[in-house]
Amino acid sequence: MNQSNRENLPRHVAVIMDGNGRWAKNRGLRRVQGHEEGARAVREVVRATRELGIPWLTLYAFSEENWKRSEHEVKALMRLLVRFLEKETDEMMENGIRLQAIGRLEKLPRKTRNALREAVRKTDAGKEMVLTLALSYGGRQEIADAVAAIARDVALGALQPENITEESLAGRLYTAGMPDPDLLVRTSGEFRISNFLLWQIAYTEIYVTPTLWPDFGRDEYLKAIADYQKRERRFGGARE
Ligand code: FPP
Repeated sequence: MNQSNRENLPRHVAVIMDGNGRWAKNRGLRRVQGHEEGARAVREVVRATRELGIPWLTLYAFSEENWKRSEHEVKALMRLLVRFLEKETDEMMENGIRLQAIGRLEKLPRKTRNALREAVRKTDAGKEMVLTLALSYGGRQEIADAVAAIARDVALGALQPENITEESLAGRLYTAGMPDPDLLVRTSGEFRISNFLLWQIAYTEIYVTPTLWPDFGRDEYLKAIADYQKRERRFGGARE
């Protein structure tokens, strides 16, 4: 991408990485092998985001609903995550990428939580980009947790019900302090939000591609970004 193409870039891209299972099935492979190939696509998209100078990238890596998958698949995904963190942390540190995670992280196995904590700690000084992994994440659960936090503050007398605003809720979401996504990419052709960032995507532009996540790489990502750059965002307002 040359300089002129760097105008009007999204500040925050969120991605629903879907289609690992189908990718594997199409090749007669096991679902887990699809996830392994998916981790390669994660690496490419993280690199491209950093190169473009986009400061926020959020990836839906494991949903609250994904706990319903077979024990074998859940274990394999958790192991894959640990391996990814161990392998990628140095490169993230070198490139000024700060890692964080959102979701009900207390539900993750201890090994995964430890690897996450370590990677978050090591990348803490990153100033160029924030990579957020949504893990054991559900948008409705996130809103319920924020409402519970508001209720606690009201009960303590720290917040008056008449003073509850959009900001009061946004500030109690897992994403407090982050900008809302400008662009949401979903792979594998499904036109669904799947409980991802429900509050935050109120005005987000959506890009759906039929490409399965393991086949999604730098070129497809640049295509999604270029598509976003052409759009006119009005946030409910009228055309100029
Ligand atoms: C959806 O594909 C994908 C997931 C549930 C997991 C996403 C995980 C990765 C991309 C790899 C590891 C992630 C990191 C951050 C290293 P699916 O299994 O639902 O596919 P299907 O709909 O075709 O069955």
